[in-house]
Amino acid sequence: MFPRIWAALIFCSVSASAVENIQPSEYRQRRAKVREQLAKEKGLLVLFGSTEDERGDLRSRYFQEANFYYLTGWTEPGARLLLTPDDEFFFLPARNEIKERYTGRKLAPSDKNAVDATGLANVLNTNKFELTLFNKLETAEKIFAILNINKQSPLRRLTGTRAIESAAPLIFPLRQIKSPAELTLLQHAADVSAAAHKAAWLRAASGLFEYQVSATMTNVYFEAGCERSSYPPIVGSGPNSTILHYNKNDRRMDSGEVLLMDVAGECSMYASDITRTIPVNGKFSARQREIYDIVLGAQRAAIAAIKPGMRLAKEVENSLHKIAFDYINTHGKNLKGEPLGKYFTHGLGHHVGLDVHDPGPPIQPLVAGNVITIEPGIYIPEEGIGVRIEDVLLVTATGSKLLTASLPSDPDAIEQILNARKR
Ligand code: GLY
Ligand code: MN
Ligand code: MN
Repeated sequence: MFPRIWAALIFCSVSASAVENIQPSEYRQRRAKVREQLAKEKGLLVLFGSTEDERGDLRSRYFQEANFYYLTGWTEPGARLLLTPDDEFFFLPARNEIKERYTGRKLAPSDKNAVDATGLANVLNTNKFELTLFNKLETAEKIFAILNINKQSPLRRLTGTRAIESAAPLIFPLRQIKSPAELTLLQHAADVSAAAHKAAWLRAASGLFEYQVSATMTNVYFEAGCERSSYPPIVGSGPNSTILHYNKNDRRMDSGEVLLMDVAGECSMYASDITRTIPVNGKFSARQREIYDIVLGAQRAAIAAIKPGMRLAKEVENSLHKIAFDYINTHGKNLKGEPLGKYFTHGLGHHVGLDVHDPGPPIQPLVAGNVITIEPGIYIPEEGIGVRIEDVLLVTATGSKLLTASLPSDPDAIEQILNARKR
């Protein structure tokens, strides 16, 4: 990670000095918490890390499965994890010199530093996986696994009549409460992504293609050492601003249009998720400004209501979604004089972490330590106006903390920045 920090210091106005790796002791604590639950359940946990074959063809780069990473911090392909109530086993593939010719040297189970490098107590060759699992099955009543990513897994054959249950209830509640070290990484991802938006604001102009703005943005976070976009950049001008996950990004933008940018990077495995909507020519039209103010009002109303116990879902008690919807539905009208609620066509937000859509059902009451987005929007295709404003927030004991505070959403502040551009 050291070179990444240098890259961030050199190329980006965002300070990277606060970025630290998560310590091996934290991964150990996470596994210890899972093992406590395994003891109660008389179960084993089996997790398969991503392989280069599953993820990592010529087009897309290999990356580790999020739950596996959460419990191990391990990024090399093909690893497996077996947790028992009182022990842990990590399995690594033997070296494959042909693969290594393409993707570099990997830690082998026989390497002397295998235990130190992985931080796991027992590191074995993958060819010992079945036998070890078999032995441990003797005292186990069930196996926990992440079922949806293990469709092809040999678990069923290995575990006989033992029940295989989802590991989600063991791992997801842990992932939903971010540790101080995770918050540092989420803050960094938010800062770098905010810097990407600011760069786009300086670049956006009539006549530019959406992909040029996208390139400017992704360049900022790749220069800062981030490894991926959290999701394909969404850069929609004019009519494209009304398409929720538009990512063709191939239209030329024009004066008088809005430009919706839902773009963020994933840095040290932690994602961000930011949307801003700006006027291409530096000044919102009266109608664009009216719609913008309504979305911002809805977002501010929802954010003001965030506290433990509130929920992201709609049609439930303590619904933040309802607060945003009611605001939108009672402010402004469409061209036929109807309320605007029907143009808010998606959820209000979601958890963010190792995944941009991190585990956390919207119906679940929020608790301190959750990190979420609040992202209301109004999309009016018949007017070619789409506005979404999306920020990332930490839920605190009494309210929330805005992790994306470095990027203004106030329309006057945005116009001021746009109009201070030297052209
Ligand atoms: N960028 C995807 C989302 O906002 O959920
Ligand atoms: Mn989002
Ligand atoms: Mn988004």
